[in-house]
Order: sequence, then C-alpha cells, then structure tokens
Amino acid sequence: CGIVGYVGPRDSQAILLSGLARLEYRGYDSAGIAVIDGEGDLEMRKRAGKLQVLRDDLTAHPMVDGTTGIGHTRWATHGGPTDANAHPHLADDDKLAVIHNGIIENFAELKDELLAGGFTFRSETDTEVAAVLLGREYAASGDLVAAFRHVAARLEGAFTLLAMHQDQPGLVVGARRNSPLVIGLGEGENFLGSDVAAFVEHTRNALAIGQDQIVAITPQGVEVTDFDGNSVEVEPFEVVWDASAAEKGGWSSFMAKEVSEEPEAVANTIRGRFSDGAVTIPELDGLDELFLGIDRVIVVACGTAAYAGMVGKYALEQWTRVPVDVELAHEFRYRDPVIGPNTLVVSISQSGETMDTLMAVKYAREQGAKTLSICNTQGATIPRESDAIVYTHAGPEVAVASTKAFVAQITALYLLALHVGRVRGVLSAEDSAEAVSELEAIPAKIARVIETEQEHIEQFAGWMADTASVLFLGRHVGYPIALEGALKLKEISYIHAEGFAAGELKHGPIALIEPGQAVFVIVPSPRGAAELQKKVVSNIQEIRARGARVIAVAEEGDVSVLPFADEVLRIPLAAPLFEPLLAVVPLHIFAMGLATAKGLDVDQPRNLAKSVTVE
Ligand code: G6P
Repeated sequence: CGIVGYVGPRDSQAILLSGLARLEYRGYDSAGIAVIDGEGDLEMRKRAGKLQVLRDDLTAHPMVDGTTGIGHTRWATHGGPTDANAHPHLADDDKLAVIHNGIIENFAELKDELLAGGFTFRSETDTEVAAVLLGREYAASGDLVAAFRHVAARLEGAFTLLAMHQDQPGLVVGARRNSPLVIGLGEGENFLGSDVAAFVEHTRNALAIGQDQIVAITPQGVEVTDFDGNSVEVEPFEVVWDASAAEKGGWSSFMAKEVSEEPEAVANTIRGRFSDGAVTIPELDGLDELFLGIDRVIVVACGTAAYAGMVGKYALEQWTRVPVDVELAHEFRYRDPVIGPNTLVVSISQSGETMDTLMAVKYAREQGAKTLSICNTQGATIPRESDAIVYTHAGPEVAVASTKAFVAQITALYLLALHVGRVRGVLSAEDSAEAVSELEAIPAKIARVIETEQEHIEQFAGWMADTASVLFLGRHVGYPIALEGALKLKEISYIHAEGFAAGELKHGPIALIEPGQAVFVIVPSPRGAAELQKKVVSNIQEIRARGARVIAVAEEGDVSVLPFADEVLRIPLAAPLFEPLLAVVPLHIFAMGLATAKGLDVDQPRNLAKSVTVE
C-alpha cells in the first residue's frame, strides 16, 4: 500500500492526491484521504477502485480544505477492495483517522478484546482494529504520540501506521515496523511517505526512519523516538531522483517510457564505476576482506528480480568461481538453509521493500551471513538492513511490471561479479577489461533493438491478441530470459505463458505443442556459443515438426534459424554472457504490445502491486 502524510500551510488535499498518484503503483484497489480543516474538523473520503474514482468523487462532492492530512492507496489483504475496507479508518467518534500498510498478525485477539469492551467495527480490516485501539488509548491519555507508543508496542506483524486527530491539528504521527516510511523535510511543512516518490516534487531533503520507531511531524519540526519514547538519531539523505523522471511525459504508458529507458538504465548503472578498464565500485571500498572470506553466494529475490539473479549466477560463477545459488526469497527462509559467516547473501529488489526479500535478508543476518543489497530505491528498508549496497541507477520505475530495473539489476550483478573476481584474484585484468568494454557497448545495442524491432514486434503482437498461450524457451543465460518473457506476458496481458529450459522440453513440456502453438526461442550466438546454438536450433526443429509457430530471438546475421522460424527478432552481436541484456528487450516490447492490443492497462495490471510489502 502507499502512504502519504502532510502538515504545513498549504492545501493538503492537492498534496495528498498528487503524492498518492506517485504511489499508486504500490496498490490501486482503493484510495482514501482524510484532512483536518482550520476549524479543527476532520473529514474523510475513501473509494474502492483506482485513484481516479476518488478524484472524481472529490470533484463532485468537495471536502473541506485542510492543511493537515493523510492519504492511502490500497492493495487488499484483509477484506476485499470495498469502500468500507478502504483507508483511512476512523475511530474515537470519527475524530481520529488511521492509515496502514502491512499486516497486523494479532488483530483477531485485539479485536476480541475491543469487542468485549463494547467497541464496534465498520470494516473487516486489521487496520480498523489498530485505529479503534488507538482511539481508546488516545481517549485515555489525550496525547496522540503517547497513545501511538502504547499501540505500536502491542501490535505484532509488519506495519506502517499513520494517524491524526482533529483535536491535535498540525500533527501527523507515524510508526513503522518492517514496513517502509520516510520523512520529507520542507520549509514550514513536512511530509511522510512510503517512499520518496510521495514528496519528491516538494522536497529532496529526506530522513530515513529506522525499525520500531515513531515519528511525529508538525509544520515546524520532526521528532523521532523508539517505541519506548527515547529520542533517536535519524539518517538524512538527499533524494537523487528528479521529480520529472517519475512523470509519464508524452508517453502512452509508464511501461512504454520505461522500456525506452532501458539503455539509460544500464548506462547510468555503470557510470562512475569503471576506470581504466577496471570496475571500481566506490560503495564497496573497504569490503575486500568480506569478499575474500566468502565461500558461497546465495541470491534471494522475487519475481523479475529473481530472474535477474538467475542471469547473474552465470557471471558470478564464471568470474569469481564462488558457487552461487539463486532462491526465491520466500522459499529461502523457511527451509532452514545451510548458511554461515562465509555465505554472502545478495538480495535484489527494485523497491527495496518487498517483504519476502526483506525477511530473507534479516534471516540471513541472524544466521551470521553477510548481506549485500542490489536496490534501485534510496532510503529503502532492504539496503538499510544489509552490510553492503550496490544501487542500480534505473531511475524511478512506476509501471508495475519491471523492465528497466531488470536490465539495471543484471548490470549491477555483472559489476559486482567483475569486482569480486578481481578482488579474489581469479579474474585477470585483461578478461575484466574485455568484459568492461562489452558492458559499455550494451546501452547502444539495446537502443538499436528498440529502434529496429519495436514497430515490427508491436505489429505482430497485435496480430496475436487472441492467443491463449505462449511458450518461451531458452538455454544457459537465455533460460532466465525465457522465464522473464513468460512472467511479463502473464503479468500484463493475462495470457497463459510458460518459460522452459530448451533442453527440458523433450522431457515433458513438448507434449504441450500442438499446431499453431506460439513459441518464442532465445537463440544463443552462433559465434560466441556455437555448441549451444546448434542444440537450440535442434530444439526449434523438434517443436516445428509438431506444428509450433516459432518466433526466434536471434543474433543479427544468424541465418541458421531462418528456415524454421515464422518470425525472427534480431539482436546485435554480444558476448554470450551479455546477450540477456539484449534478448529480453524484444520480450518486454512484445508483452507490452500484446497487452495494449487487448486494450489492457499495462501500468496497473489486475491483482498486482509493484511493491508487495506483506509476506
Ligand atoms: C512484485 C511485482 C513484480 C516484481 C516483484 C519484486 O511482485 O509485481 O513486478 O518483480 O514484486 O519486486 P522488487 O521491488 O523486490 O524488485
């Protein structure tokens, strides 16, 4: 869910709504705001559906103007997306408004306690339980911050909670445990947000709040304490994102814009990290000992980030000779993995907030492992919980389905692999320099794929709008790309899609092939990976013989695929390890083209949220 809070002299409604628009990627089942006006009256409005539904409602039936406010955009957990279940939730005779992100695990017992005390509820949410509890505490003490401390200490699970009370205008209180919350510092006004996107158009001065802390913002200041009320130091940082970078501009969708930014995402991620043909990652200075001491790497991530991890495994093993496993973060923690002080757990997360990934990182640390975060969002929780950070510089990614962040994640993993390989003395300076120059050439090559193939791909994606199922095949580094191609199609076009290792096809999935079945095949380079390329061409022949409609993603000049492919999407030449950065681009364009042809909202696909902050 997305959360925003404001105190200051300006009309909070406009600020909340524009903050929510920037946070809508975190959930778009329902949205709501509450404001306190100059008379000390609290008004609240919330509606199921996308933010626009709330906007339209506010236009039709305006609320009071207020200068203190909180806003929320929801991804439903407890209770379906209805008006009643939307946030804010009110308590204390509708004088108190509360919004929440996360899951309160002990809400049922707290609710029983409150019901026994005669309190009533209007929704099925865990949030309302926190609101009612807070209302009871506030009624007892008349001090919102103190009441918050009591409540926060009683809640189990993960939460960011924001509240305001009409008797205390000019004050918004927030608490966080395992869920994101950052402070934006303005002049005579202050902000709270799930991430910096909530307030980047107003200020770039931010403060990161730690775990189990409570923050109170007023127009004049910010006070942060722990749950016991002790003051704590908070870490200031400057937001590097440009507010306009998170604008759609003239593009038809954020996804279209973000795919077009794939070359820059790679270029910006390598910028400043090469010198004289060698990788130097300033953030990793002083960590040589850590990298020399490890005997195993485990990559943890979810969704698209996990596929970036699978690609990274090939580079990490090749250049560092350290064994690498890649695991879905939510599986990792619950299987009692064998890890210890010599294990490096590398997490990958665009948002840096994915709860499954965060919990895996925390677990790894508790077990004594070293942790390194590859992340795209400053001030996010996962990097702050890690021993080391390598930021991807893809810029803000707004569309739910990850595209430019994916290529940036692969790039960061490659940089890390090159760095660790050199530190450990297993990668020669020449090999490193060669890899560096390959990587430097990638942005222009991605740009060429977009320039030469986009129209063609969109056209045939349009012809395929009625397709019921698409398969993707790849081998070696092409295998995770096949998985990513399938995931992207599922996510935004709701078409059944599966990715397979091309060699595995004959062991089962080939039974799926019937005449007309569309199959994308990522063909390795005949120049760099001749053996593999021949095997994949054989795989193509096998499916072709059974009537498959083959769409080959193949290197420019590879004519061996022509007799067996219905469509050929060309990518420029690159060394085999670097091909994923190119081969994925046509697949992103295809998924987008097909979803667009079906008339779907590519930025906000059904049931999904970009940043899933619950387990
Ligand atoms: C969600 C999104 C996916 C994304 C995954 C990981 O499930 O819908 O598109 O790949 O989270 O997100 P992260 O922010 O951790 O990279």
